[in-house]
Amino acid sequence: MHTPIASHRPGRPLLGTSRVPGDKSISHRALMFGAMALGETRIGGLLTGEDVLRTAAAMVALGAAIRREGGDWLVSGRGVGGLAEPGDVLDMGNSGTAARLLAGIVASHPFTTVMTGDASLRGRPMRRVTEPLAASGARFTTRDGGRLPMAIAGAREPRPLHYVLPVASAQVKSAVLLCGLNAPGTTIVTERQATRDHSENMLRHFGAEVSVAVTEDGAGRVIRLAGRPVLRAADVMVPGDPSSAAFPLVASLLVPGSEVTLLGVGLNPLRTGLIATLREMGGDIAIANPRMEGGEPVGDLVARHGPLRGIEVPAGRAPSMIDEYPVLAVAAACAHGTTRMRGLHELRVKESDRLAATAALLAVNGVAVEIEGDDLLVHGTGAAPPGGGLVRTHMDHRLAMSALVLGLASAQPVRIDDASFIDTSFPGFLALMNGLLGDAAPAMRAA
Ligand code: S3P
Repeated sequence: MHTPIASHRPGRPLLGTSRVPGDKSISHRALMFGAMALGETRIGGLLTGEDVLRTAAAMVALGAAIRREGGDWLVSGRGVGGLAEPGDVLDMGNSGTAARLLAGIVASHPFTTVMTGDASLRGRPMRRVTEPLAASGARFTTRDGGRLPMAIAGAREPRPLHYVLPVASAQVKSAVLLCGLNAPGTTIVTERQATRDHSENMLRHFGAEVSVAVTEDGAGRVIRLAGRPVLRAADVMVPGDPSSAAFPLVASLLVPGSEVTLLGVGLNPLRTGLIATLREMGGDIAIANPRMEGGEPVGDLVARHGPLRGIEVPAGRAPSMIDEYPVLAVAAACAHGTTRMRGLHELRVKESDRLAATAALLAVNGVAVEIEGDDLLVHGTGAAPPGGGLVRTHMDHRLAMSALVLGLASAQPVRIDDASFIDTSFPGFLALMNGLLGDAAPAMRAA
């Protein structure tokens, strides 16, 4: 069922302190690694969005036991190589991360797994993982174009992979590493551009031997994983998701008079490209109480309203803010001058074609926008965008939230066709935003 929502210019600023849900990337990995470890892993702060719940259900189908105790999740694992054949098709819903990482895990288990997802996920490319994983000895049968549903006949005697990533993708890197967990010998992945390293960090946390060396040009990394480690249960504290914090953060920069503190946000340097970019645009963002929590840097973000100016965002920054371009484009629409975001080809294969859909989101609301090759250009005037458009969200949670942030800063309300997918990554988004706004009539409400 579709849930149309409209976002109105609020009568007052965003004010106060809030906490965004747990990091999606880290939540998936905590459940998966817990399921492959010996003993019971306790996870605090797990994201309970739809995507992560799909991973939890899949790990149970593969033989792990998962239960909740208070706010924590407890995972009893089966040990490396100890997962069992699932009795039914694994439905990964909307989640590319769940599908691709799981493909890596089951590729080195000697049984057959069948995987599907929703219409968005069934349209996304899986060849980027099936191609490298096939060299381990696993066999993949996909729909035309390498799409889900797919059947995976796991390798009986898996071979360790040596793979140079052709695209900057933490999902592909992780799939190859996870396949290597149950292969004898050393798995080696080279990435030319560094991508989020949560898999490497958490594998180490569970006892695996992972070494990382920078490539000769300094931009990339060579990651080596020693196969068949004994993974031991380890507690994981999931930090707030910087990709979710992005929405109240940008809203606070855009709505006059706002000042918001977001507590306990993950600040892994491979995830903080948006903060660097918004600061270059003149955004007033401070980091308070920087600290380490569960092996990841964390801090409190303090954002205050102020004018923004258009800038050039280099292509090399894309991996560190790959999920944040739609909301950055919204900030750019409210800035003075043109923002050019370079090298966004990977956006075309996200939950939607996010490059085209972000441009459409802005255009329908009266913002001047262009796509030039892989670049997105947004021409801001410094004045409030006209708004008044109906945004098609294409089953994409981040498009939905970005459009609703735009509505807070536009002259006329912005409507979206469907808010239901927001729950995949940010359950409670509307309540959190409306709470910070504190209006009697919520700024984001049924259309
Ligand atoms: C993720 C990696 C990124 C990101 C996704 C989460 C991960 O995808 O867009 O939301 O957890 O590894 P790609 O690897 O396709 O860039």
